[in-house]
Amino acid sequence: MLNIKLKYDKLLNEIKAMAPFNPELAIILGSGLGDFASNLNTVKEIRTSELCEYPVSTVQGHDGKICFSEYNGKKVLLFKGRIHFYEGYKLEECILPVHLAKELGCQRILLTNAAGGINPNFSPGNLMINTSFNSIFIMNEITELIGIASKEEKDRSLDFPSKAFNELIEKAAIKENIQIREGVYWYTKGPSYETPSEIKMIKKYGGDCVGMSTVHEAVYASVLGMQVAGISCITNYAAGITNLKLSHKEVTETANMVKNTFERLLKSVISLL
Ligand code: HPA
Repeated sequence: MLNIKLKYDKLLNEIKAMAPFNPELAIILGSGLGDFASNLNTVKEIRTSELCEYPVSTVQGHDGKICFSEYNGKKVLLFKGRIHFYEGYKLEECILPVHLAKELGCQRILLTNAAGGINPNFSPGNLMINTSFNSIFIMNEITELIGIASKEEKDRSLDFPSKAFNELIEKAAIKENIQIREGVYWYTKGPSYETPSEIKMIKKYGGDCVGMSTVHEAVYASVLGMQVAGISCITNYAAGITNLKLSHKEVTETANMVKNTFERLLKSVISLL
């Protein structure tokens, strides 16, 4: 069976040698949300392309940088750019940032993503706390992935997503007077957007938004005993919800439009840690 610690031992040591401190929170920045890094004091920036075994990011808007940053006395590890299953990587590669975050000392991980809105009350630009996840499209792969966790890790009861962490995000939103939605994040593999018929099915089964990431990262983080939360930026109406054609350009444009609100929310979350 795959031993993820062994597989990434060299890479981890390479990063540890450059790490200026042990971070307490990791944040994975989703599509178009990478600019958040410029809000914090960057103590050390590492280009993932300079690391020996780090998967290459192939998606526009995913920079490929790891930043050790500080804000309000809090130490944060930022992943600018994520590794997607639809890029052809194995799940064990997609969850690499989670593994690194845990090994570098993070107790918490915040997963951000861009997603298509399904809930009729949502519109592009809304931010949504992920109250639950659905991953039936990759359930088999996730089960295999959990196979790489140790016995003790598998036996933990999962607080997934973390109620305490979600409450902290809600508090942060209230403090900043930011309207925050709540709902179920539903995973599809991509890279193409869903068909209107798929969206109809997902809606029927309780999905509030849809995206191509996050769920396996969240499962793995919770198996490792980390507090995990997810925030979706609703960047577009999901396929068939309106007659509009979906595009990656719209996703990045909307993410850009809500950038300031999203950044205020994340800074408030960090301050409340
Ligand atoms: N579907 C899947 N992933 C997405 C979407 C969508 O509509 N928007 C942003 N990421």
